[in-house]
Amino acid sequence: MRAVVVTSPGPADSLEAVELPVPSPGPGELTVDVGYAGVGFVDTLFRSGAFGLPTPFTPGIEVTGRVREVGPGVAGFEPGRPVAALLNDFGRGVRAGGYAEVAVAHAAMTTPLPEGADLARMAAVLVNGVTAWIALRDLARLDVHDDVLVLGASGGLGGITGRLAAIHPARRVIAVVGSAGKRLSDTATWTHVVHGTDLGAAVQELTGGRGVDVVVDPVGGPLRTAAYDQLAPFGRLVMLGNASGQDPAIPGDSVWHGTRQLLGLSLGGVAHLVPQRVGAALSALVDLVHRGVLREPAPAILPLDRVAEVHQALEDRTAPAKTVLAVR
Ligand SMILES: NC(=O)c1ccc[n+]([C@@H]2O[C@H](COP(=O)([O-])OP(=O)(O)OC[C@H]3O[C@@H](n4cnc5c(N)ncnc54)[C@H](OP(=O)(O)O)[C@@H]3O)[C@@H](O)[C@H]2O)c1
Repeated sequence: MRAVVVTSPGPADSLEAVELPVPSPGPGELTVDVGYAGVGFVDTLFRSGAFGLPTPFTPGIEVTGRVREVGPGVAGFEPGRPVAALLNDFGRGVRAGGYAEVAVAHAAMTTPLPEGADLARMAAVLVNGVTAWIALRDLARLDVHDDVLVLGASGGLGGITGRLAAIHPARRVIAVVGSAGKRLSDTATWTHVVHGTDLGAAVQELTGGRGVDVVVDPVGGPLRTAAYDQLAPFGRLVMLGNASGQDPAIPGDSVWHGTRQLLGLSLGGVAHLVPQRVGAALSALVDLVHRGVLREPAPAILPLDRVAEVHQALEDRTAPAKTVLAVR
């Protein structure tokens, strides 16, 4: 099969297209003939060596396609069935990633899709949607009266976080954009859009000096510090990543003096420990998208052999909100 591998970590052009043997599913697993593989910023971190994964490996942690083969002990899936699968359980040492014609998935983190489902659109929402779902529901315990501030709103994770918060609903769903000139296409989602450099003053004005109840933060760096300072009492900061590459310290005293809550989630770090919980969130999310309740924009689609371009654009902050690779 055709696959993209990282043999030694490095820049975007260290992604290499090769021929590999087709993998077989083990117990509790199935293989998927991959139609589309989602690409996210986190893939650039895997590729560059930030997580120290053993090489060679095939990146790609979210796919849609059709079941190819079912492993021992797997029920409810038959060959040919359309499915969506999360593959991000590197904690368990997964063998094959999503940038390949055939991927190995764990049945517990795979969900059937209705025949006729939009496989490209579905591949675009899996990792970010499940992360946002758990962050808003289970961690932030979002309430209809809450004001939510979403950092990195122009990106994949920030965008779907805003759209999920909007249908929850929350009171205000405020987007924070960093790059000058970046425009948000899903304008109906956001009650307000503020620029990162202006964050403190803008939130003060919008909330009458009260601050926000929830900050969802995939960016880190100075934006995290500025957003944390805008949390109202009992406010929750949910940390999901450091796209900025910076992880600023938050003093413990400021947490209890301000009566605030610090929360965090790493889907890839926890998925292999709670696969049923992740699988349940995946099924619920896919259902919301398929029924059109969660209205996800169409992703950009590029062929598998242009994956290096996608990685480079993500690192340059010039990528579309979400890109999927057409694999077959
Ligand atoms: N916790 C989890 O389980 C989980 C799951 C998925 C993703 N993540 C993490 O979430 C983060 C975002 O992922 P994504 O796929 O949404 O990425 P993305 O599509 O590239 O979006 C990231 C956004 O962050 C903003 N940003 C601010 N400073 C930046 C900087 N110095 N470099 C790059 N971007 C910067 C950019 O918006 P502006 O240009 O408008 O500032 C960009 O749109 C990544 O760190 C990823 O690892 C975590």
